[in-house]
Amino acid sequence: MNPTDPIVVWHQQAVSRADREQQNGHRGCVVWFTGLSGCGKSTVANVVDHKLYERGVRTYLLDGDNVRHGLNATPAMLAERYGDEFGKRFGLGFGQQDREENIRRVGAVSQLMCDAGLVTLTAFVSPYRADRDAVRAILAPGDFIEIFVDAPLEVCEARDPKGLYKKARAGQIKDFTGIDAPYEPPVEPQLVLKSAEFSPEALAEEVLRYLTEAGKLN
Ligand code: PPS
Repeated sequence: MNPTDPIVVWHQQAVSRADREQQNGHRGCVVWFTGLSGCGKSTVANVVDHKLYERGVRTYLLDGDNVRHGLNATPAMLAERYGDEFGKRFGLGFGQQDREENIRRVGAVSQLMCDAGLVTLTAFVSPYRADRDAVRAILAPGDFIEIFVDAPLEVCEARDPKGLYKKARAGQIKDFTGIDAPYEPPVEPQLVLKSAEFSPEALAEEVLRYLTEAGKLN
């Protein structure tokens, strides 16, 4: 499953994923939340994370907004820290290619966390099907659990928790998902959460039920 390059050779590590999973008392997996900005991905993922944490499950939540403060910082953030040139060269914005690289990196980090035996939760818009499918492809079969947080655009726009839809409509932000950039819903997600109809608490319970029935928590 790993790519090859003759000048970089894979080093087998002393502690295996199975060792870590045995110590943790559950398997590792990647629970991938996808959906429009404002659909409730982060909210539901946080409730799930907290419930799992309380049960003693080893988890970590990779959240889009947070990861874009560091590993995948935006051009503006990097420019502020290291100068404009650096920001332009290494920052990730919201064009299709930058989103692809954002999701590729998050996929690679998720793969490492899964290998560490963690129930890895991710909350990224991840609007392109091919990018999500590419993450599924680097993981072992069954390790990628795709959850579509499904709320109509009108609902997300009415919520507009960060005022970004308003800015996008005013033309102050371009390539905004759902406005002037596409969102490609999953074709066969493991779960669809109707976040305009049910509370985050109820949806989190749905996720926990799924994970339990799929045998991911033992
Ligand atoms: S992506 O598409 O997966 O690369 O996006 P992600 O890393 O999840 O970052 C999404 C958050 O960035 C804010 N934001 C935007 N979202 C969509 N389109 C554009 N153009 C954009 N610009 C900024 C927004 O707050 C997203 O957070 P959420 O939590 O999804 O609302």
